[in-house]
Amino acid sequence: MTKRIAVIPGDGIGPEVARAGVRVLETLAKKRNLALAFDWFDYGAERYLRDGTTLPDADIENLRSYDAIFFGAVGDPRVPGGEHARDILLGLRFKLDLYVNFRPCKLYDDSLSPLKGKGQKELDFVIFRENTEGLYTGAGGVFKKGTLDEIAIEEDINTRKGVERIIRAAFAYASERGLKRVCMADKANAMQHSGGLWRRTFSLVKAQYPQIESSVMYIDALAMDLVRRPERYQVIVTGNLFGDIITDLGAALTGGLGLAASANLHPGRLGLFEPVHGSAPDIVGKEQANPLAMCLTGALMLRHLHYPAEATLLEECVARCVREGLRTPDLGGTKRTGEVEARLIQLLEIA
Ligand SMILES: NC(=O)c1ccc[n+]([C@@H]2O[C@H](COP(=O)([O-])OP(=O)(O)OC[C@H]3O[C@@H](n4cnc5c(N)ncnc54)[C@H](O)[C@@H]3O)[C@@H](O)[C@H]2O)c1
Repeated sequence: MTKRIAVIPGDGIGPEVARAGVRVLETLAKKRNLALAFDWFDYGAERYLRDGTTLPDADIENLRSYDAIFFGAVGDPRVPGGEHARDILLGLRFKLDLYVNFRPCKLYDDSLSPLKGKGQKELDFVIFRENTEGLYTGAGGVFKKGTLDEIAIEEDINTRKGVERIIRAAFAYASERGLKRVCMADKANAMQHSGGLWRRTFSLVKAQYPQIESSVMYIDALAMDLVRRPERYQVIVTGNLFGDIITDLGAALTGGLGLAASANLHPGRLGLFEPVHGSAPDIVGKEQANPLAMCLTGALMLRHLHYPAEATLLEECVARCVREGLRTPDLGGTKRTGEVEARLIQLLEIA
């Protein structure tokens, strides 16, 4: 059966990397006889500035009929408030209830490690970030705006259901892959109400996985420890805000934004796959965007679509590109976006 993929390239370098990512996936599909069909959608700043459209509810219903969404990036200096980007990306995450933000942090070549003495063996963990609650729901408000008495309140929303399902997703992932360790990160010493709920729920779920060693850490301590001894971590689960920050640390430890992939998931349903990076307005149109984060995102999508062998092949070819020195400026190289894409396609063709 044909897998239908909705491509939303978005803004800035989004279209540059999405084009490269789709061409790479088409190459793989042709080589391995995968039935993939790509439909392109023009949500982004250009359309918003033209007719005010961000992401209409009816379009979300249409997107539900796809097997996956392949997303570039949104954000444009012409929309300084970022309202279209919020509507589109947070709209998709919230309305499709994509509660798992899954980010693998895997070093593809020892030479990319920023940590002395830590290489591929030490840097290989995944982060499960809660994606629909916490401090990112927009609940709250301002009072006496613009005055010296202004009050701004941002509500941190944590539901038992929301906390439990992300923790369960992390344990299920570890269990299915025979991984040994799951660590939950919070700030329960300072944020007792939400921390209490997370800790109680974590205890309840971990009891069902006695074969897995579980631990709980404060997020600040985890940030330090990830730099000191990343090899201790296999699966990390945390809330929306902490996850947002710690996943950027994870990306920085494993080659940076040009190599960082992510998936927004609701197990058993349509998923949204996007590189961790944004629209990088500083390098738009300069052929400097690293397309490999988008290609690794494609590998995550292939695995989700039940093509694990093809996903692994794509990851191996990306690793080979990096090893061979096919590196854009973000990785210290001089190669252009098109050169990296061309070599990756060639490696897939001869694989
Ligand atoms: N998921 C998303 O769509 C997403 C995520 C983050 C930021 N944004 C938006 O993107 C815009 C720019 O944000 P930012 O500058 O904070 O983050 P960014 O990720 O766009 O860029 C940060 C830095 O990393 C570089 N970079 C990013 N991706 C790269 C790639 N593939 N290859 C080479 N270099 C790369 C950029 O050139 C820039 O110097 C803003 O509008 C922001 O809101 C969107």
